[in-house]
Amino acid sequence: MAKQKTSFVCTDCGETNPTQLGKCPSCGAFGTMKAFREAPSDGSETAGIGAGVDLLNQPNAEPENGFVRIKTGIDDLDQVLGGGLVSGSVVLMGGAPGVGKSTLALQVAGRVAGAHYYSAEESAAQVKARAKRLGAGMPAQVVHTQSVADIAQTIAEHRPPLAVVDSIQLVGDDLTSFGSMKQLRLNAELLGQVARASGTCIICIGHVTKDGELAGPRVLEHLVDTVLTLTGDRTSELRLLRSPKNRFGSTLEVGVFTMNSSGLHPIENPAEHLLADRPEGATGSAITIIQEGNRSLPMEVQALTVKSHFGMPRRAATGLGLARLHVLLAVIEKFSPVGCGVHDVYVNVVGGLPITDRASDLAIVAAVLSSRLDMPVNANIALFGEIGLSGEVRSVQRASARIDEAQRLGFSSVFAPEASANVHCKSLRELVRKLFSKKG
Ligand SMILES: Nc1ncnc2c1ncn2[C@@H]1O[C@H](COP(=O)(O)OP(=O)(O)OP(=O)(O)O)[C@@H](O)[C@H]1O
Ligand SMILES: [Mg+2]
Repeated sequence: MAKQKTSFVCTDCGETNPTQLGKCPSCGAFGTMKAFREAPSDGSETAGIGAGVDLLNQPNAEPENGFVRIKTGIDDLDQVLGGGLVSGSVVLMGGAPGVGKSTLALQVAGRVAGAHYYSAEESAAQVKARAKRLGAGMPAQVVHTQSVADIAQTIAEHRPPLAVVDSIQLVGDDLTSFGSMKQLRLNAELLGQVARASGTCIICIGHVTKDGELAGPRVLEHLVDTVLTLTGDRTSELRLLRSPKNRFGSTLEVGVFTMNSSGLHPIENPAEHLLADRPEGATGSAITIIQEGNRSLPMEVQALTVKSHFGMPRRAATGLGLARLHVLLAVIEKFSPVGCGVHDVYVNVVGGLPITDRASDLAIVAAVLSSRLDMPVNANIALFGEIGLSGEVRSVQRASARIDEAQRLGFSSVFAPEASANVHCKSLRELVRKLFSKKG
């Protein structure tokens, strides 16, 4: 077996050098080159990928084009990853506080034999207690540390098939402030190097900003192989897992999970959850079909309009952008026979998954008008289409997939601008006429 090498890494910029230098040859900083032991490798840059002897002994490991894939056994996660975790790669998993990042990472670490879990946020006892609650197995090592150099060194020495670092923002070294741009970059570079050298797949958990972007420099996303994002409302049980970047698979796969006390579990038929408890015959409710990656998902939009008692009517939106609601209300005001100028308008997307797909416009408008006119939208109707500023309904991507999904779910009338929809709807006026013709 090859001997372990010691190399020196600049804690400022991540530059590596085989000899200890007083000054970093890349950024010129003094006294920043720190020693760390590299995993044995046969010399080539990618030789470490999949080279770990233990990796192929994993029950779910399969060689694939020069690297090894480890199936986690959590189907939707494996699919989003492109078939499973890839040895020697770095996965950055981002999400809002409390959405379930540590939970999912711990479930994975519990299922991969020999995995390490490094927590900078919680004590080892806390992590172990959670692993017991989840019942998904205990990682081989659970360590509380905030030192990225220690983590890198332990991984290089032990070469576990999987290591989780929770979180990349809270690990660092003594020289740079934690969570700073510089530190984050350094962490990602160091962990990337050690992952490639040792063949370990490293999952780094990352915090997100208020806008849902991964906290830290954009370059962080370039430094990792795969970015996963976990979204969903903390108050609801649904979670979506997407992969905005994946060097080892498609970015169109989307996982849908429910979260309960035993962790995150893929849902086979998300529609059942998304459309559960829809009140029959209620006004202000409409169904749309949104597209998340290559998955079509039904969503219920609810709206409530009430006469305002103030000069300035209130508008509130949960699960969609307020700016979008304002635009849609302006279009209603101009192109519909009834407007909401003196009405408070509240819109809610049921299920806690925020909608950004413009195809939901038609259903949002239908829900608002349904409440305003006090006329329910028939339960067998689904609607999709983007609304333009001239009151026109515009075509959206993957219309046929949406129509198929609506029909599969039993919606016999699909309102959309496409000729293939069974209720062709090209403008807001046409929508009002076809949907609310009895009284409208
Ligand atoms: N005993 C429990 N039973 C059921 N659900 C729990 C329990 N304890 C915690 N949870 C759920 O787990 C969520 C926290 O999950 P987790 O710690 O994985 O999130 P996170 O994304 O890692 O959050 P953070 O960013 O704060 O680290 C809580 O919001 C709660 O919904
Ligand atoms: Mg956490």
